[in-house]
Amino acid sequence: MRIDDGVKRDILARTDIGEYIGAVVSLRKRGNDLVGLCPFHGEKTPSFHVHPDRGFFKCFGCDAAGDVIRFVQLHDNLGFVDAMRMLAKRAGIQLEDEDPATARVRSEKEAIYHANDVAAKFFHRVLTHDPEGEIARRYCADRGISSESITQFKLGYAPDRWDGLTTELQREGVDLGLAEKAGLVKKGQRGFYDFYRGRLMIPTHAITGEVIAFGGRLIGEGEPKYLNTTTTPVYTKGRFLYALGVARRAAQREGNIVIVEGYLDCVALHQGGVTNAVASLGTAFTADQARELRKATDNVVLCFDGDAAGQAATSKSVDLLVAEGLAVKILPLPTGEDPDSFVHSKGGDLFKERLSKIERRDTDAIPWIQFKIDRRIGEIRAGFKSRAQIAREAEVLVRTLPRAEWDHWRTYAAPQLGVDVEDLRKARLQITDGARLEYGEGQLIDVRRSDKIRPGSVASPSWETACLAIFVSEPVLVGEYGSRIAPERFGEPSLRRIYARIRDQAHALVQPGDVFALFSDDGDVSATLASIAGAERSRIIQFADTEARRAYLDRTIERFAADDRQRRFRELDAQMTALFEAGEPVPAELREEHSALHAARTKG
Ligand code: UTP
Ligand code: MN
Repeated sequence: MRIDDGVKRDILARTDIGEYIGAVVSLRKRGNDLVGLCPFHGEKTPSFHVHPDRGFFKCFGCDAAGDVIRFVQLHDNLGFVDAMRMLAKRAGIQLEDEDPATARVRSEKEAIYHANDVAAKFFHRVLTHDPEGEIARRYCADRGISSESITQFKLGYAPDRWDGLTTELQREGVDLGLAEKAGLVKKGQRGFYDFYRGRLMIPTHAITGEVIAFGGRLIGEGEPKYLNTTTTPVYTKGRFLYALGVARRAAQREGNIVIVEGYLDCVALHQGGVTNAVASLGTAFTADQARELRKATDNVVLCFDGDAAGQAATSKSVDLLVAEGLAVKILPLPTGEDPDSFVHSKGGDLFKERLSKIERRDTDAIPWIQFKIDRRIGEIRAGFKSRAQIAREAEVLVRTLPRAEWDHWRTYAAPQLGVDVEDLRKARLQITDGARLEYGEGQLIDVRRSDKIRPGSVASPSWETACLAIFVSEPVLVGEYGSRIAPERFGEPSLRRIYARIRDQAHALVQPGDVFALFSDDGDVSATLASIAGAERSRIIQFADTEARRAYLDRTIERFAADDRQRRFRELDAQMTALFEAGEPVPAELREEHSALHAARTKG
């Protein structure tokens, strides 16, 4: 798009900054100025000034300042061009130079937006007011979708008829040929008929507010579960994100965006107070979507379903997002849960708590690199890749991180891959020079040919499961290690409780049967223990003997210590930075601890 100075001047001339800002910030007149509480930082006394005559705003508290375009950029978290586009649209200014052909395309797009708008209003009205909508109202109630969410997301219901929307469109004077192009109706032998019938309708909005597409969820079971708009002149599947318009504002406050798969996962999160959530809508993540996100935030958290399909989708999405320069973290959910079920059974606050743990690098958090490495380890076990390839791939992954983190992740990955940290370092030699890659592979295979999994290596299961497996099969080890593994280390609450109880009773536990007996009155826990023991029997978790088990526990404890150092290091770093910035002296103890930790961290 071309935006020249003329257009910018036009936009500024035709937008009353006082009126615009006044609509989103409550302002009072003071002399020639308008004054209010600054929307860009928390404050109790107003220091945010708007000067309508001179066309700019300024906050004396946080130094935010600029013209109305700048305001939109900051307030709506939009790039310059999108901010201009939004203001231009509002002021009725055309941004592009148009020849007749582009004018036709534009007017067709406008017409489709209009048709979609008529449809969305119709569906919404049926859901909220029409007797035909009763079944969908009940469906929403059963799924815990509140009436506030129905209003906020303009949810609707397409009645189970062939001529519901079609009749409405005709009544509103919408050309049915155009509605067909919009994907709203289809043409059959006897004319046009409704495309969506008997479905809960979920409109997708562009960040500028237009309805660009619909997803229709079947009420009850059946196929296909969702029917979606595919490609129309205003919508290409995989280019947009559901709820980005709302989420990008919240992203400014939260510092990140949460990506889930499903529409209703996203709605549930917003309803539970997690308003920085968007949905990718089931398709593989695309570069276009990544770029849209990038305009709103640098940090994303992927929260896909725990099943195999969800894991695969997560893995692909991670690659794309990282390639677009986004920092990616992964929030795993308990198996069998998706964000929707999680929020409804455990509440949005618990979800938020898990999110905030991610920022604190607490146990629930999985940095994407760990997720990828864990998956690669799973691949070795499935026999798809040679250990040498894995070593190299792990090293390639490691090297996409900031240099300071390399050794940390090498140390994490190597033991689980059954290779030495040195193998990864050697693999590095083969990847710094693309031309040597081919040869490198042959050499590397010799580094450690054996495809036997080393005793004590743990595939995809978490360390928590592995530790419990050890303690169940050799309960005497609880007495030996219990004091060094605090139950609080366990992120998964159900596993934490199991461990705490085992630890309490350590003195009485000798045989695996003793552990099972502890929980004989609790069917759920017994089932969990049985599946953990089963995982060991079926060699998903494998330890050759007591020594291997001890070695694993020692490594785990070492990792805790490393994580603690890391956390402390960050704390210190923040404290020292604050002191520096305030121009205050940094006490020697702080500096010493800091550099000691730094040395420990980079030692590898
Ligand atoms: P899921 O199958 O995980 O469904 O698909 P869901 O979101 O949990 O849906 P509910 O809770 O059963 O209603 C995730 C997303 O994949 C897309 C939709 O966008 C859905 O939200 N999808 C799924 C389709 O487009 N078509 C389908 O048939 C199924
Ligand atoms: Mn679901």
